[in-house]
Amino acid sequence: MTITIRQLHPHFFGEVSGVDLRKPLTPQEARDIEAGMDKYAVLLFRNQDITDEQQMAFALNFGDRENPRGGNVTKQEDYRLTSGLNDVSNLGKDGKPLPRDHRAHLFNLGNCLWHSDSSFRPIPAKFSLLSARLVNPKGGNTEFADMRAAYDALDDDTKAEIEDLICEHSLMYSRGSLGFVDYTEEEKQMFKPVLQRLVRTHPAHGRKSLYLSSHAGAILGMTVPEARLLLRDLTEHATQPEFVYVHKWTLHDLVMWDNRQTMHRVRRYDQSQPRDMRRATVAGTEPTVAQQAAE
Ligand code: OGA
Ligand code: MN
Repeated sequence: MTITIRQLHPHFFGEVSGVDLRKPLTPQEARDIEAGMDKYAVLLFRNQDITDEQQMAFALNFGDRENPRGGNVTKQEDYRLTSGLNDVSNLGKDGKPLPRDHRAHLFNLGNCLWHSDSSFRPIPAKFSLLSARLVNPKGGNTEFADMRAAYDALDDDTKAEIEDLICEHSLMYSRGSLGFVDYTEEEKQMFKPVLQRLVRTHPAHGRKSLYLSSHAGAILGMTVPEARLLLRDLTEHATQPEFVYVHKWTLHDLVMWDNRQTMHRVRRYDQSQPRDMRRATVAGTEPTVAQQAAE
């Protein structure tokens, strides 16, 4: 079968057909999908009833698995998934929705803010692959924004102003903006800010993107209020409807996005009902700021 991709938004987002993710990809299929990612930035695969192992095997066609350590406040012994996938559900180890005031649940609500995965790591994520195992009855759409198109649409003065700016990213900034401010000493150490360029260039096609994320909370050489206002203005610009695609989930959809050229967020949903989403994360290969190479 040959892979075909149909574009669903004027700027980005493709729907793929002609591939079965339960089976190993041929080298040609892997190349076609990677080229599709470069071009469309987000790809949707429908009707993929896969296991955690099949999802991870598919992800590993595109790079190494990202080490999930340091990305949440869930204790190792409370992990529901042991397959190496990131648990993006609202469920506890017992398979039931976490209580509304559960600390890990409150922390995970940060996914409702526009972000790019792992921008809080010195080497941020390349691709994320999210599989819908149980769809919530109310809300829970995931929205994607094309950060190349958003960059292109900036005026020349703004492009010149931001070209070389370096931001500080931390999970404490994104969660702090929702009022989640209490961390253990160990978490403070784990969530120490890292540096990221505000404008990044895609390694495959050379287009520039706005590298924004709710994790960004400061800009080097700028006062915090000034930096946050600039980040807010740019985020408001980048998430206008013309740059955004809204994905409404169907059971067994798999959506794969390039964190180097998109942002995403999940919309609020019914927390009394389960939503089981599982993510495989492909590690990035280089930092956006050279001196940050060592972790
Ligand atoms: C993620 C994420 C959004 C969602 O998996 O990185 O932000 O729809 N999830 O759950
Ligand atoms: Mn995310």
